[in-house]
Amino acid sequence: IHESALAVLDRLCAVIPDYPEEGIVFRDLTPVFADGAGFRTVVEALIEPFRGGFDVVAGVEARGFLLAAAAAYASGTGVVAVRKAGKLPRETFSQDYALEYGSATLEIHKNDLAPGTRVLLLDDVLATGGTLAAAHALFERAGTQVTGIGVVLELDGLPGRERLSAAGVDPESVHV
Ligand code: PRP
Ligand code: ADE
Repeated sequence: IHESALAVLDRLCAVIPDYPEEGIVFRDLTPVFADGAGFRTVVEALIEPFRGGFDVVAGVEARGFLLAAAAAYASGTGVVAVRKAGKLPRETFSQDYALEYGSATLEIHKNDLAPGTRVLLLDDVLATGGTLAAAHALFERAGTQVTGIGVVLELDGLPGRERLSAAGVDPESVHV
């Protein structure tokens, strides 16, 4: 019998209080990624709502990379890396943002995607939405179209969903 994505996440997601700082309850999906059947089940559930609606998959550094590469391979599309500042060698669009426990800058290459390309944007966790809102803004600036945003876990009690909806894309999550 096939274990559901929800069951995989309930069984394997680790919950760490006060990491990386006091007051944050950290959701660690590395045991899910490390489980062959579990990883496949979760990636399939992650991309299911978007089938046929995207030309490329984008993932946010670093945990989003693991999901985006798997999703792109499973869908037969290419993959784009949304990177932390200073890692991309050519001209970039750059966006500062705040997340649940800090702030940073995300970048994409200016000329990697043709205008109008339909982008499926993926990450592991949606918390405040700062990270995915910044990534969304980068693809808009590049003239591409974010047709979907998918996450494995959506954290309750934080404004992530409202924030992304306000930016124009309702996120889909495998588990809330
Ligand atoms: C984590 C997580 C998301 C983001 C969510 O990444 O992987 O990208 O925070 O938080 P938000 O919704 O409040 O923006 P982190 O910046 O810790 O990077 P990492 O993947 O490199 O560990
Ligand atoms: N990214 C932002 N907040 C997080 C949390 N509570 N757990 C895991 N990743 C996160």
